[in-house]
Amino acid sequence: MGLLYSGYVGVFDSGVGGISVLRALTRLMPHESFVYYGDSANAPYGEKSRDQILRRSRDIVDMLLDEGCKAIVIACNTATSAAANTLRADYAHVPIIGVEPALKPATLSPGIKRILVMATPITLRLDKYKQLAARWGAGNEIYEVPCAGLADRIERGDLGARDVVDLLENLVGEYRGKVDAVVFGCTHYPFVADKIRQVLGDIVLFDGADGTARQLERRLADRGMLSYSADPGDVVFLSSKDTDDELQLYRSFYDMP
Ligand code: DGL
Repeated sequence: MGLLYSGYVGVFDSGVGGISVLRALTRLMPHESFVYYGDSANAPYGEKSRDQILRRSRDIVDMLLDEGCKAIVIACNTATSAAANTLRADYAHVPIIGVEPALKPATLSPGIKRILVMATPITLRLDKYKQLAARWGAGNEIYEVPCAGLADRIERGDLGARDVVDLLENLVGEYRGKVDAVVFGCTHYPFVADKIRQVLGDIVLFDGADGTARQLERRLADRGMLSYSADPGDVVFLSSKDTDDELQLYRSFYDMP
C-alpha cells in the first residue's frame, strides 16, 4: 500500500454518475485534490440488493482510505441509501458525506407544488428516501418514478443518440405538463438534463450536488482539514473497468459543457 492519495478526498459512485458531484466539488474547492472511483464493472447499483451495494461500497471505501484519503464522498444516492449509516459507524474517524435527492430545496421553492422525483428503483424503496419524502413532501404533489435502465444507458455515453430521448419518453413522458419540477434522485441523471427538458418541457431541475459540496467544505473546515495549497488541486480518475476507453469516458463526462 503506497498512500498514493494522501490528503485527497475520495469520491465514488457505481460509474460515471458521481462525476456530476465531482464537478460541483472541484468548482467549490479548486484547491482540494480528489480521487474519483467509478465502479463501472459493477454498475448499475440501482437494480442490485442492499447487501451487494453495501459490500461494494465497503470495499471501495477501504481501498480509498488505504491509499490515504482524508474524507469520503458517496457520490451516489443508491449507495448513500444502502450504505452510508453502516459506513459512518464503521469509519467513525473519517468524514463521510452522502448525497440525497434535493427534495427539500424543491419543496421550499416558491411556486413549485408538483414534483417528479426520478431515482433508481432501490433508492425509492429504501427507508432513507421514505423518511425524506415524509418530512418534505407534505402539502405537495410528489410523483416518484423508478427509472430502471436509465443509469445503465447513461453509463454507455453517446448521450446525443435518439434512444436516450425515447427511453426518457417511456419513463416520464406521461408527466409532460403535469409537473413543475424534477428532482434528480440519481447522480447520473444531470447528464441528461437537456433531454429531460426536451421530454417534459420547461420545468425546474433540482440537483443535490452543490449542497453536497457545501456540506463537504463545512465538514473539512470544522476539522481543520481543508487544503491550504495555493495551487489547483489534482483530479484522478480510477475505475473498476480499468481500460483507457473507460477513463477517457470519465474525462469526457467531467469536461462536458
Ligand atoms: N448514480 C447512482 C445514484 O445516484 C447509481 C445509479 C446506478 O448505478 O443504478 O443512485
